[in-house]
Amino acid sequence: MSFKPSTVVGLLACILAAVCVVPAQSNNTYRTVGEALQAKNLTVLLAAVQAAGIVVEPSNAFTILAPTNFAFAHRLNKTLNITPADLLKPESRETLQTVLGYHIIPSGAVKSSQLRDCLTVATALQDPNNTAANLTVHVRKGKVDFEGPTNDARVITADVSAGESVIHILDDVLLPPGVGAKAAAPSFPSLAAALQGANLTILAAAVQASGITLSPAANYTILAPSDYAFVTRLNASLGIAPMDLLQPKNAATLRAVLSYHVIPGAAVLSSQLTDGQKVPTALRGAEPLVVRLRCNKIDFEGATNDARVQRADISAGSNIVVHVVDDVLLPQL
Ligand SMILES: *[C@@H]1O[C@H](CO)[C@@H](O)[C@H](O)[C@H]1NC(C)=O
Ligand SMILES: *[C@@H]1O[C@H](CO)[C@@H](O)[C@H](O)[C@H]1NC(C)=O
Ligand SMILES: *[C@@H]1O[C@H](CO)[C@@H](O)[C@H](O)[C@H]1NC(C)=O
Ligand SMILES: *[C@@H]1O[C@H](CO)[C@@H](O)[C@H](O)[C@H]1NC(C)=O
Ligand SMILES: *[C@@H]1O[C@H](CO)[C@@H](O)[C@H](O)[C@H]1NC(C)=O
Ligand SMILES: *[C@@H]1O[C@H](CO)[C@@H](O)[C@H](O)[C@H]1NC(C)=O
Ligand SMILES: *[C@@H]1O[C@H](CO)[C@@H](O)[C@H](O)[C@H]1NC(C)=O
Ligand SMILES: *[C@@H]1O[C@H](CO)[C@@H](O)[C@H](O)[C@H]1NC(C)=O
Repeated sequence: MSFKPSTVVGLLACILAAVCVVPAQSNNTYRTVGEALQAKNLTVLLAAVQAAGIVVEPSNAFTILAPTNFAFAHRLNKTLNITPADLLKPESRETLQTVLGYHIIPSGAVKSSQLRDCLTVATALQDPNNTAANLTVHVRKGKVDFEGPTNDARVITADVSAGESVIHILDDVLLPPGVGAKAAAPSFPSLAAALQGANLTILAAAVQASGITLSPAANYTILAPSDYAFVTRLNASLGIAPMDLLQPKNAATLRAVLSYHVIPGAAVLSSQLTDGQKVPTALRGAEPLVVRLRCNKIDFEGATNDARVQRADISAGSNIVVHVVDDVLLPQL
């Protein structure tokens, strides 16, 4: 699909208001979008908006998704191999306008409390038939994510008000349709290499401490909690740090938790999972996990909580598929 960025400017073109530096206000309320972006140190976005000649007047009501400076630097480098300064150059004008258009929701100021899971929101970016490029909203465990065709971004500060508009600050730049591409799921020669390559350092240490071994002659699907998932879940539910779980006195708990993340019998790709599917784990006596497919996302429901697939289909040797998940599934212990 090809989008015409000029509609963004057409929609928002106003006079270029002076952007003045104002002290940050503790109540997250600013007179203009320019003031808010400046006060929140969203200076890459501010420079981009200025370079594109876009000004949102205080009387207009938009929702603006605002990636942080760090998000711009990281995403532009990783996906487009350019710096934020390169994005402002004349030769990047079309990319700049397309990206900006994808971060503006023109239908009004949508507060975070009005965002619902699985909601589709139309952006200011339109194709030549005036069909809007959309984003999907995900609301889960108190966090709000926006999903585009290539990546997701999480709201890290919601509801900064700027005139009649509202700004939600994001931890990533949403790549519009046609800009960049989804990275292919990587392949590794072994489970150990996959855990290392995917930065799953706590899981790697836990597998090693547990002494659990997998048969090279059998197939497996492994649900692999991220390091962040381990730290937060162990703290919240067991009141321990990951290091504590590796202590000999917790050996039985460690084995139970890890076994609950091993699905023996088949290396199952995300595309092969179906809603409501029951998947037995290697934990003896435990009820199977239940697969839930919900607006492009895959969740595994366990006995006490659920975990969402963040990165799917990492292959580890010919017999193992790893899905990175955002939570540690705790069996009934
Ligand atoms: C936030 O601060 C602005 C400027 O000081 C003020 O006009 C506004 O009433 C304040 N809003 C709230 C909700 O306190
Ligand atoms: C603002 O962003 C710049 C550039 O990313 C960064 O170097 C600086 O530390 C940030 N300042 C604040 C106050 O966060
Ligand atoms: C992207 O980041 C890498 C690693 O930090 C760096 O070597 C490279 O120069 C960056 N590319 C651009 C275009 O800035
Ligand atoms: C625009 O609409 C026409 C007629 O329905 C269709 O053939 C064409 O593919 C559409 N273009 C885009 C970019 O979607
Ligand atoms: C965006 O959503 C609207 C309303 O649901 C729909 O009409 C439109 O086709 C969607 N755009 C794309 C590119 O799918
Ligand atoms: C792993 O961590 C390194 C260093 O923080 C980072 O450069 C790399 O992108 C990460 N890899 C993945 C797959 O997250
Ligand atoms: C493992 O999976 C492969 C590919 O689906 C299949 O050919 C093979 O028979 C399976 N091995 C076992 C032991 O189930
Ligand atoms: C759990 O988190 C709280 C709040 O961040 C922290 O104060 C506490 O030390 C953590 N407990 C462990 C065992 O890490």
